[in-house]
Amino acid sequence: MTEPSALRLIARELAETRFADRAAGWDRTREYCWRNVAELAEAGLMGMTIPRAHGGRGASFLEACGVIEEIAKVCTLTARVVVEANMGAISAVMTYGSPAQKALWAELVLAGDKPAICITEPGAGSAASEMTTTARRVAGGYRISGTKHWITGGGVSRLHLVFARVETETGAPEGIGGFIVLADPARNDFPDGFTVVRRERTMGLCGMPEAELRFEGVFVAEDMVLRPPSGFARGFADLMSAYNSQRVGAGTIAMGVAAGALDHARRYLLQRQQFGRPLAEFQGLQWMLADMDTGVHASRLLLEAAAASAQTSPTGFPDRTMAARAKLFASETGVRVVNDALQMFGARGYGDAEPLERMARDVRMFTIGGGTAQVLRTQIAGALLDIKTPQTREGYTRLAQTPAPAAMPTLRAS
Ligand code: FAD
Ligand code: COA
Repeated sequence: MTEPSALRLIARELAETRFADRAAGWDRTREYCWRNVAELAEAGLMGMTIPRAHGGRGASFLEACGVIEEIAKVCTLTARVVVEANMGAISAVMTYGSPAQKALWAELVLAGDKPAICITEPGAGSAASEMTTTARRVAGGYRISGTKHWITGGGVSRLHLVFARVETETGAPEGIGGFIVLADPARNDFPDGFTVVRRERTMGLCGMPEAELRFEGVFVAEDMVLRPPSGFARGFADLMSAYNSQRVGAGTIAMGVAAGALDHARRYLLQRQQFGRPLAEFQGLQWMLADMDTGVHASRLLLEAAAASAQTSPTGFPDRTMAARAKLFASETGVRVVNDALQMFGARGYGDAEPLERMARDVRMFTIGGGTAQVLRTQIAGALLDIKTPQTREGYTRLAQTPAPAAMPTLRAS
């Protein structure tokens, strides 16, 4: 057993002394956790993965995962802020961005901004590469047009990384790129053409706005275009490569919530008496607890391995398949573990005197957001079999036309 890192200990202290008591309040009021964000920034946990040269701590994804786990044990909402302030969009900018872009993002994130990553559209969820938002070349930059929805932090975030289909002045397609859009929601200051259309009402993670954002010819100057290293033609792949870090972060939240629920359940079994004995003495519950504990440990190992893979990967991001596997396993395990913990509390677990019902609502999201369990399974299977399984109807049509299995056109040459 290794000693907890210094960052994990800082996070644990904040989680136990500040965030735990406030978690039910954010859930009830649906308010964004500004107070927690200020304390995270003060403790250097907003932007801890930002390199030291830009004022961050230069923490690894693995170290960040330790922080995320500690916070997720008590407040899923705050843990989501930590993920998005250290992984995903910020990682893409800190890797692919120009010096000015890096300086801007570092300054705002270190001061407490949680960037918003804008990929999903009403017609392009799992099929994210079918996005229709465009970035049309104009004098001095690009104009963004389209609608993104389910954007975490929409209406509170200042920094936005908008994925869009890049077009020349005449509309010829060039690929997919990332476009930095800056707003100041606190001052109700949005660029022309940028509208926060509405906020979703969600079953869990209630303090976090999930918003629909409309872009109607929003101007993005040339210097705010995030240019992926291999150009727009391969831009989607490069941006998704950076996004693998966020998948590890999301999986870590699910594991952390499960670890928190497990701890609540363990204590309750020792304390609650029925039939004249503590619940802890009933083997039916002991075995449930053992399975829950095993699931949490296995999730943690998968997530740590995925996070650590970034340190040896040529991209600097977690390995795609390891990230998919870890998020898939941790999210499904998290849902099951929290549900079982709630069961152990009986009626008490169903009421709001305990945090289990909130945790169950919160953790449910993680098999959906950031790549659904089904999509991740397809990616893992594709990697195992070295097959790119077409999900589009044309893809299946092509397969149906294939004369013999030996000539499968979708088998990738290795
Ligand atoms: P769909 O793609 O419509 O899928 C519906 C169902 O069909 C799912 O069960 C899915 O697994 C299944 N399915 C779809 N295609 C296949 C297939 N080929 N094979 C098998 N099954 C399939 N997006 C952002 O860009 N930024 C954010 O900040 C963000 N935050 C989010 C926060 C929350 C709380 C949630 C719930 C979502 C968020 N999302 C965000 C969107 C999220 O990434 C999408 O919900 C997700 O990618 C799935 O897309 P969808 O909801 O349109 O589902
Ligand atoms: N990491 C690295 N590269 C990735 C990647 C990832 N996670 N996902 C896709 N790519 C690359 C692919 O390898 C491919 O490159 P290639 O042409 O060299 O093979 C390219 O991006 C396009 O991917 P492909 O699988 O062909 O895309 P698709 O058009 O079939 O779309 C996805 C499928 C990628 C959109 C789908 O699998 C997916 O991940 N959906 C979930 C979207 C999501 O997570 N949204 C979260 C919003 S917050």
